[in-house]
Amino acid sequence: MASNSENIAPLKGIKVIDMTQVQSGPSCTQMLAWLGADVIKIERVGNGDPTRKELLDYPNLDSLYFLQLNCNKRSIELDVKSPAGKEILTKLLEGADMFIENLHPGAADELGFSWEEVHKINPRVIYGTIKGFNDESPFASVKAFEPVAQCAGGAASTTGWWEGPDDVPTQSGAALGDSNTGMHLLIGLLAALLQRDKTGEGCFVQQSMQDAVLNLCRIKLRDQIMLNNIHVLKHLPQYPNEKFGNTVPRAGNVEGGQVLGWCYKCKGWETDPNAFVYIVLQNEAKAFAEACQALGKPEWINDPKFNTADARQLVKDEIHKGVEEYTITKDKYDVVNILGKAGVPCGPVLSMLEIMGDKSLYQAGTLVEVDQPERGKFVTIGCPPKLSTYTPQITPAPALGENTVEVLKELGYTDAQIAQFAADHVTSK
Ligand SMILES: CC(C)(COP(=O)(O)OP(=O)(O)OC[C@H]1O[C@@H](n2cnc3c(N)ncnc32)[C@H](O)[C@@H]1OP(=O)(O)O)[C@@H](O)C(=O)NCCC(=O)NCCS
Repeated sequence: MASNSENIAPLKGIKVIDMTQVQSGPSCTQMLAWLGADVIKIERVGNGDPTRKELLDYPNLDSLYFLQLNCNKRSIELDVKSPAGKEILTKLLEGADMFIENLHPGAADELGFSWEEVHKINPRVIYGTIKGFNDESPFASVKAFEPVAQCAGGAASTTGWWEGPDDVPTQSGAALGDSNTGMHLLIGLLAALLQRDKTGEGCFVQQSMQDAVLNLCRIKLRDQIMLNNIHVLKHLPQYPNEKFGNTVPRAGNVEGGQVLGWCYKCKGWETDPNAFVYIVLQNEAKAFAEACQALGKPEWINDPKFNTADARQLVKDEIHKGVEEYTITKDKYDVVNILGKAGVPCGPVLSMLEIMGDKSLYQAGTLVEVDQPERGKFVTIGCPPKLSTYTPQITPAPALGENTVEVLKELGYTDAQIAQFAADHVTSK
């Protein structure tokens, strides 16, 4: 039965003044918009968010990068360095619930919109900020992009191959530094909103990109402590044949826990770079026996060389070889169908092309088609958490300054004043 709360946006009535750009901040404010907040994106006059024109597929349209991170927002062009621009931003903050920025270190303070200033303007405003590093860091004043955070957050040193010419720090294709930081900030902002219900006051929520990456590298910190203590990491591919140094090495496709996991070739791997499947052998005897049966290795079940988790770490190369003898004879989808039914944790390596063609992702609302004015339909990734009582409608990203006049009118400015702002280049022409 439909409940009363059905499709009431959780953040309905929350106004967000969004001075973010590129990916980290916009990923956060887009989620706030999808949860129902009114997000007003403040953009530089004339150019706007630098990603609007980054990696263009069509010369006169906003980039896919911009569109995928700025749906459901409103855009105003505003020169916040001008006195009139500052006055307009101040008015916006007087009626806001959140102010979020990810300018370079010190820039917001310089503009006159530090946490202290904003708190004075409206003590209820929650102030969200993203920087590469914490204030305490020796790199506090350094600008940061995605790879900077992946490198400084421990991800790059522990990702990739551990030997041969590919033994170099490697970043993930997933935006651990950018969107992951945005999602971390989002958690802080939503908590701050609940806290404000109790205190009546907004707080300062600071999220460094380094911390957001590091938070996802917990098991690597565990590995470092283990290495310090016992000088060996039995769950990594280097064991038992290679020596360990004093830092956590890159671990290839290892699962990361004590369970044995690897990425195996499937039929067609010679021509298809993604004809691979990931398979995990669980530690429990029953699960291991089921996997052995399914993989055609029943002889492993009672063999002491294979039938305990500790023993398997000593012969992992032999196990990987044995599993691959099975996977290489089959298409990756067949492997997952068969092993999945047998209770073996496994997954196909999917290319972005395969993901884009997956109808079930559209049915789930994970992939969404947005009809963008001028461009037409483009595919984006919708709101990942699915609430039983609320489904966001994903609407187009705004054109640069699309809502400038509308927002200024909401603030009470007259047509003449609005025209004057434009003439003075405080807003768009
Ligand atoms: C992303 C980053 C590296 C870009 O740095 P940048 O090229 O110096 O660009 P910024 O947008 O931060 O600042 C450029 C200028 O525009 C100004 N500016 C921004 N919006 C403005 C507006 N609406 N009106 C007037 N000026 C504006 C800033 O005040 C700044 O002026 P300043 O250089 O005189 O201080 C930097 O912002 C950064 O490190 N941010 C924090 C971490 C982060 O989120 N990184 C992005 C990951 S996706």
